[in-house]
Amino acid sequence: MTVARGRGPTPAPLSPPDASTTTDEPAAVAAGTDAAPTRADPARIGEQIARIGRIGADSDGGVSRLAFTRQEREAHELVGGWLRELGLEVLVDAIGNTIATYVGAGTTGPAIGVGSHLDSVYHGGRFDGIVGVVGAVELVRLLIEDEMRLAHPLRVVVFAGEEGARFGEPCIGSKAAAGDLVDRDLTRIRDAEGISLAEALRTLGMEPAAVPGAVWRPAEWAAFLELHIEQARALETEGTPLGLVDIVSGSTRLRLVLTGRADHSGGTPMAMREDALVAASEIVLAAEAIACDARNRGARLTVGRLDVHPNSITTIPGRVTLTVDIRDVDSDRQRQLAVELVRRARAFAERRKVSVTAEVIADTSPVVLPIWIRGLTSGVCAELGYAYKVMTSGAGHDAQVINAVTPAGMVFVPSRGGLSHVPEEWTSASDIARGVEVLRRSVLRIDELLSSLEALPAAEGG
Ligand code: HGY
Ligand code: MN
Ligand code: MN
Repeated sequence: MTVARGRGPTPAPLSPPDASTTTDEPAAVAAGTDAAPTRADPARIGEQIARIGRIGADSDGGVSRLAFTRQEREAHELVGGWLRELGLEVLVDAIGNTIATYVGAGTTGPAIGVGSHLDSVYHGGRFDGIVGVVGAVELVRLLIEDEMRLAHPLRVVVFAGEEGARFGEPCIGSKAAAGDLVDRDLTRIRDAEGISLAEALRTLGMEPAAVPGAVWRPAEWAAFLELHIEQARALETEGTPLGLVDIVSGSTRLRLVLTGRADHSGGTPMAMREDALVAASEIVLAAEAIACDARNRGARLTVGRLDVHPNSITTIPGRVTLTVDIRDVDSDRQRQLAVELVRRARAFAERRKVSVTAEVIADTSPVVLPIWIRGLTSGVCAELGYAYKVMTSGAGHDAQVINAVTPAGMVFVPSRGGLSHVPEEWTSASDIARGVEVLRRSVLRIDELLSSLEALPAAEGG
């Protein structure tokens, strides 16, 4: 992948796409009457979200812009172009993360990062990840409009391959940045068609051997903030416009393959069957039972994908491949529930004379985000007069991975009906504008904090 560097002309207004892309907007969640006005432009935000939503758009109104596909690259190139138009230096790293730097006025010191991802799940929504990227672009635009430069570099980061929908492994771009991706992962990580991450990178003209070059050096970063949709219904239900995340759930993802014996559906007596799908069905119900056990409150188990072979009306299923997504804010319990599910799966299979294999296709720990960042963002919300809720995230995010490199924070805006990963996913541009205002002020606050720390006399040796 050529590293696209270029400092565009002096900041020009983003060329707004045609009006037809503007999203219709029901009333925003009302903020308190004395709440500060938001600086971001809801109409511009709506247009940019709609413009990105046209890349990989499905016929059912959803989006399939899968990780490490041409569509994902097209979205990165579109946003990279917007940032270049704003005068930022834009580069694409070896795993496909797009990183644009708004240079600081005073130093080349550690950068403050803001951003999210542009890839989606299959038939997903137009806001997941996009809100954080468009919000970051809007933040830069507001700084330029104010002719304001931070003392530190501000970097807009668009992570590649955040969704695990295609490869199972989530947060591939941020894991590469955090140094969590090792060589064998590039061939281990495969999609349902058996295409490896390395092959997908090569198809995009990228060199897998260069991926280690995407690792971030912690000294070059001060913090990372991610604006994201909540993807659940707490904020809307409580009428609270903002969420500040304390814990991001982890996820353990399994692939189970059940092998029975395909046979004639009419000629085979019930007592003589080795039906892989019946065994799989017991596993699906066991996943629900484990998650709904009161001792496991907070855990979520989902069988999202199930492939039946030969998938024919008149043949007993001989083989079933299914995936299980196990989420929790408690890392020990998350892994224990995975072990328990496999134990039960083995018992079901044995009783039905079906064999079962289980492999872990991804495993990401829950992360407690640093309190000092949440203290800073909650102070900003209070200053703005915005109500907020400290809350956990059921979804996983790049911020939870990047937190291993530099302190990370997350700001949530409401999801209408709590819906996400579906075409009906929606968040109002005015809610997003409120999140951008929190992001903007938080970035300014972090910049000031860093400068005051840097102004302190160096500690005496010894
Ligand atoms: O699936 C998730 O946890 C997130 O939407 N990437
Ligand atoms: Mn996301
Ligand atoms: Mn997602």
